[in-house]
Amino acid sequence: MENQKLYVIMVGLPARGKSTIANRLKENLTKDSIKTRIFNNGALRRRLDLKNTSFAEFYDPRNTEGAAFRERIALMNLERANRYLAKHGQVAILDATNVSIKRRNKIISLLKGPPLLFIECINDDPEILAASILRKIAHAEFNHFEKEAAILNFRKRIDYYKTIYAPIREGRNFIKLDSLNNQIIQEELVDDIPYYDRIRDFLMTDSVKSLLLIRHGETYFNLENRIGGDSDLTEGGKAQAKALAMYFKNKKIPVIFTSNKKRTLQTAEPIKELQKNSAIIQFGEFNEIDSGICECMSYREIREQMPDVYSARKRDKYNYIYPQGEGYSSMKSRIDMGIKKALYLSSNSDNIMIIGHQAVNRMILSHFLYRRPEDVPYIYIPQDKFYHIVATQDKKLFQLKKYNISL
Ligand code: F6P
Repeated sequence: MENQKLYVIMVGLPARGKSTIANRLKENLTKDSIKTRIFNNGALRRRLDLKNTSFAEFYDPRNTEGAAFRERIALMNLERANRYLAKHGQVAILDATNVSIKRRNKIISLLKGPPLLFIECINDDPEILAASILRKIAHAEFNHFEKEAAILNFRKRIDYYKTIYAPIREGRNFIKLDSLNNQIIQEELVDDIPYYDRIRDFLMTDSVKSLLLIRHGETYFNLENRIGGDSDLTEGGKAQAKALAMYFKNKKIPVIFTSNKKRTLQTAEPIKELQKNSAIIQFGEFNEIDSGICECMSYREIREQMPDVYSARKRDKYNYIYPQGEGYSSMKSRIDMGIKKALYLSSNSDNIMIIGHQAVNRMILSHFLYRRPEDVPYIYIPQDKFYHIVATQDKKLFQLKKYNISL
């Protein structure tokens, strides 16, 4: 039925999460038996010309040859999308920057029939951008560059797009999305848009297909029941890391997120080594709870030397804030931000791995699985097992799994 068909037009500068969103939409709509296809200009461009289109100058709007080539690709995808909806397709997603008014006018004039919904992805977090660029330059099209040159070319490419970027204005069906926080900044509808509520929901839901939530291996501090600090793994901890590496050897883990602490990094390194193509990304957001004046003390020392601190924390562990440090309640916003960043940077990869700490992993777990706040600081976070979490719109799974240490 004509009114059940829809064009979705992605809009946004490079590395703003457009493809991640497009993939998520497609996946969710397909699950609902809505025939959806993505028409990605970048993928088509790379198929047609791998090497020459990775130079920044190709995107200079004054480069007439480059502009003509990109125009040709855009038209090819528009025609394909047209044909798709003319047949059995229901939702055609045009995944490209589409930042200029000229380009959008062309799209509007060429896509006839079903309504158009523009989704503009906005995110200017510099740290996220830097990490996104690192992922972008892992594409084969950048293989002929040194790493620094690849980064420079990608940043310059973004700058060229900025010169022609015109944000969407009133008078169209559009959603402006903060693609890091999954928040709708502005929306407007001038037509009836099929599947709108569903699309809106998918855009706003934190969903994870497979999160492997691991606590770092045993440390010297763990042996003495000391908290915080930046201790190394013991031999036992290193063996745990190796066993984890073997366990995950045949699973594809494109990114391993850790904190800035040595113990998480030392756990991640052997895992990365046994992966074909994997990167470690460190986030301060995943650092262990800052125990302020109690850093590096053992629980026993705290009980003996600071009995007030000890008993106040015991009374209300969730809300208690260590003097000059943090509490579970005050960690929440940074942990939530870390999760959002990790999900954003993992695109739609099947497996996301986070190697965190006891308190951090409790907070991550409770982000996906509701727990009363007072119960969160007591969630069981062992070092010889990990949590496998699935949290999508139609599935919730939390499994504590043991890996084989004797490997
Ligand atoms: O003991 C390891 C540790 O990760 C400490 O660094 C941290 O302070 C503690 O666990 C958090 O657990 P709890 O809130 O139960 O003290």
